[in-house]
Amino acid sequence: MRTHRDPQTLADAPSVLDRMARILAARGIDEATVEALPNEAAAHSPEEALSAGMPPRYRDAVAEHPQVLAWARQVAAQAVAPSTGARRQVTTGPSLLLAGVTGAGKTHEAYGAVRVLVQAGIGVRWRATTAADLYAELRPSADTDAERVLAAHSRVPLLILDDLGAAKSSEFVEEQTYRLINRRYNHMLPTLITSNLPIKDLRTCLGDRVTSRLAQMTTRVSFEPVDRRRLQRAA
Ligand SMILES: Nc1ncnc2c1ncn2[C@@H]1O[C@H](COP(=O)(O)OP(=O)(O)O)[C@@H](O)[C@H]1O
Ligand SMILES: [Mg+2]
Repeated sequence: MRTHRDPQTLADAPSVLDRMARILAARGIDEATVEALPNEAAAHSPEEALSAGMPPRYRDAVAEHPQVLAWARQVAAQAVAPSTGARRQVTTGPSLLLAGVTGAGKTHEAYGAVRVLVQAGIGVRWRATTAADLYAELRPSADTDAERVLAAHSRVPLLILDDLGAAKSSEFVEEQTYRLINRRYNHMLPTLITSNLPIKDLRTCLGDRVTSRLAQMTTRVSFEPVDRRRLQRAA
């Protein structure tokens, strides 16, 4: 998902921040100092910078679903300028569970929601990961600091957590998902979660602590059961 190598700007490019966080963590430097850097170094408009930080597949995505647009309006309404005259930034807000079959357009709509916020003039620090990629990053290893990875995903103002429930269930998966969701739940940070599992299967896979929080913090957005990938291939 984050393997392309296009030029990116600092504040709006999650893959750059991810890489930088890993380098800094390896050197024992606090990532918070980097996140506080201003955006003035950006060579592009906020929307161009956003596109550069997105996977090419979803670069042109613009949210269209009425519930997603309503969510974006609510998040924009809660955005706060850090200082007088500065761009308003995403702070707290509701979350969505984008639910539907594979190929229904969930990931497209999630990236499109970030674009809608940027087009509305809101400053968005965001990250996107599939749940499976995140678990892989969180597994203990010599060259990553799993706690920092979890902290970065827990506190980023807007997180896209893609394909929740798709990874094989285990105690590790349940625990890490609980820690992530619980932090975002407590801090009321907007999170766009996609899943192709019905809630009862999510409960089986991730446990009641996670699904109980999801039930309260998210609004469910149901997609038509159409696989757009197959449709596009047939066209
Ligand atoms: N509203 C849309 N307009 C145009 N293309 C779309 C739209 N929604 C999805 N697609 C395309 O359909 C395919 C499947 O969408 P995707 O969001 O990846 O599905 P899902 O995440 O539900 O599996 C992708 O190629 C995506 O670019
Ligand atoms: Mg998807």
